[in-house]
Amino acid sequence: MPATRTTMSQRTISQQTLSQRTLSRRSLLRGAAALSVATTLPGLSGCTAPAAPGTNGALEEATAEPLGLAFPTGFGWGAATSAYQIEGAADEDGRGPSIWDTFSHTPGRVAGGDTGDVAADHYHRYREDLDLMKALGLTSYRFSISWSRVIPEGTGAVNQRGLDFYRRLVDGLRERDIDPMVTLFHWDLPQALEDRGGWLNRDCAGWFADYAEVVYQALGDAVPTWLTLNEPKTVVNVGYIYGAHAPGMRDARQAYVAAHHLMLAHGLAVQAFRATGLAGRIAPALNLAPAYPDPPDNEMATRAAELADGYENRFYLDAVLKGGYPQDVLDDLGPAAPIHGVIRDGDAEIIATPVDLLAVQYYNPVFVAPGGNYVTKLATSDASWQQIYPDGLYDTLVRLRRDYGDLPLTITENGRPCSDRIVADGRVHDPERIAFLRDHLAAAHRAIAEGVRLESYHVWSLLDNFEWAEGYRQRWGIVYVDYPTQRRIEKSSAQWYRGVIARNGI
Ligand code: FCB
Repeated sequence: MPATRTTMSQRTISQQTLSQRTLSRRSLLRGAAALSVATTLPGLSGCTAPAAPGTNGALEEATAEPLGLAFPTGFGWGAATSAYQIEGAADEDGRGPSIWDTFSHTPGRVAGGDTGDVAADHYHRYREDLDLMKALGLTSYRFSISWSRVIPEGTGAVNQRGLDFYRRLVDGLRERDIDPMVTLFHWDLPQALEDRGGWLNRDCAGWFADYAEVVYQALGDAVPTWLTLNEPKTVVNVGYIYGAHAPGMRDARQAYVAAHHLMLAHGLAVQAFRATGLAGRIAPALNLAPAYPDPPDNEMATRAAELADGYENRFYLDAVLKGGYPQDVLDDLGPAAPIHGVIRDGDAEIIATPVDLLAVQYYNPVFVAPGGNYVTKLATSDASWQQIYPDGLYDTLVRLRRDYGDLPLTITENGRPCSDRIVADGRVHDPERIAFLRDHLAAAHRAIAEGVRLESYHVWSLLDNFEWAEGYRQRWGIVYVDYPTQRRIEKSSAQWYRGVIARNGI
């Protein structure tokens, strides 16, 4: 099993090791090994490209068959991307380097030595991509702004050419009646700020709010929905604990210092937004993973799953929506944890500055054994960390309303990778992705039917792209990118999605 695959599995192994307060290599490997079993068992890996054109025709037809479930009028249908994963043009028009440029150019960090230097070349091909979105019928497009394209050093001088690119993009969306949904931070911290301590430096929260203010001023008249941070949990777990993402740290204690500063950044950016008086709405984008005990009726496993829920979900949700970190997680981190030294009076209130909605990203559940380890119970996708469980989305949405109130929700990421390839008919057949999306939309529909205020759904991703430590070998798009030519080819899932949007239902 390639090294990066193992490390990617750590994206959701996350806290079992922390809860034992022993971030030992052994427990890390134990978690990874559990995951690797599922990916090697026959029949469990889930996604296979058809051997020949038409081979999967029946499957494709069957999965595409409408289920007769209508979504509410006005439901938003979108797709999501992020700057470093698609833009390329890493060195153009005054963009400064981000930590992902540094990380991907460090040998051994990314599979195949891939980098985001060119990616899907969206910086140059955005018009074609806008037309593609229009042709699919998207009503919402979620993308992120590269902080170092706008402010190359992270603070100080603004790069107008960088802002101009995003202005053209936003205007292009509006010309096509597609709502822009803008993420301010999708992991690509300016390298200049990492050099000043990055998220371990409290000042980074203020730098983020200053940058956000620049973007609000430049695009605020045209953007109805803003997202502050993308998945702070992944930054904490994978960037600071396991080191498989930039900045590549392995320090479980300091990771929660970074976590606090990220959450503070979120709160300050919400406050900066309110100060502009702009009409749009703002939210954080949180990846939530329901935690189930395994076995289900085991008391120790139930307690362990409860704590895992704290690390996976409540740490971030409670901070934003309840005004403080959950006590069980703080207790588990321990009284000597460095996070206690960096939480100042008033921080909790800043972090809990009211938001307008919550952006939910759902990929997988976690199953927690009595000792706290995560176990793989279900078939995974080609991403070994991703057990496929659509009901987990339903459970998550319903739980949010139960525990956090009636806030409007948007799903800002959901999807799976497939080993897609162009076959003899020139097309890309991905019925497994259609089935995944259909089943998750059915789960979302069930939650809506029970009164959950879900407003919109964004598939991850519009395009195949640079999948972080996996590089380009994992394809998550509904549109295939032939990297040597940069040709875009709608996969069968894109064609299916067009139909879903047209009839506002599955
Ligand atoms: C999410 C990230 C996104 C992409 C998908 C597969 O965690 O936000 O950029 O990597 O996973």
